[in-house]
Amino acid sequence: MSDSSPTRDILKAEPRPAFVPNRFREAIYHEIDDAMPLAYTRELGKWLYANRDKLVRGGDDRGASRFNHEITTLERDLPTELYVPFRKMLIEKALAADVLDKLATPDFDLRYIETHATLYHHGSHFEWHDDAPGYDQEIVPTRRVTFCYYLHSDPKMFEGGELEFLDGTLITPSNNKLTLFHPVQQHRVRRVDCWSAKLLHGRWALMGWIHGDPPEGYIERMPELRGRPHSG
Ligand SMILES: [Fe+2]
Repeated sequence: MSDSSPTRDILKAEPRPAFVPNRFREAIYHEIDDAMPLAYTRELGKWLYANRDKLVRGGDDRGASRFNHEITTLERDLPTELYVPFRKMLIEKALAADVLDKLATPDFDLRYIETHATLYHHGSHFEWHDDAPGYDQEIVPTRRVTFCYYLHSDPKMFEGGELEFLDGTLITPSNNKLTLFHPVQQHRVRRVDCWSAKLLHGRWALMGWIHGDPPEGYIERMPELRGRPHSG
């Protein structure tokens, strides 16, 4: 990443802004490979597949997403031995000062972590959007960091499913990788092509939001921060 760009220059400005407007459009994200012990990933994958009957149609009814499915009751359903280590890892890795700095997110008091399991199988995708609004389109200002933890079978049986940002940054889903990004920036999930009919072979992920108190003025400035929706 170069030392100077509109986004970085804004970040270095004094007083440092609490957030970076979407109009600067440089992807604000952080990736961590090998986020968990592989034995954990395997156990989590086994549980998700065994509980695939809990998957319900995800996304919305406006055509922004197609065919992705999710388990939205993970905090309740996931066994403690699978939920607690994941939550601990997230807090350690996502809330580290240097990571929050990279995510242009001022330090905040953790309120709670909202976690969903998602499956994108053949043909699934999610069109351009930002994560400021919730499912009912109301703004959720406590979403401070979006996370996505990928897992898939070995060998990988699908192509696509990349997380894409407006500057063309592509995050390839790979097993045991954690991606963190600022929720108020446009992103999409590109279409998945899977060579197997088995759900086991799709693009699985734990994704969600770390919730905390928003910085002062955040809600008022939300329209400006979100910028104009991407067209095309
Ligand atoms: Fe999103």
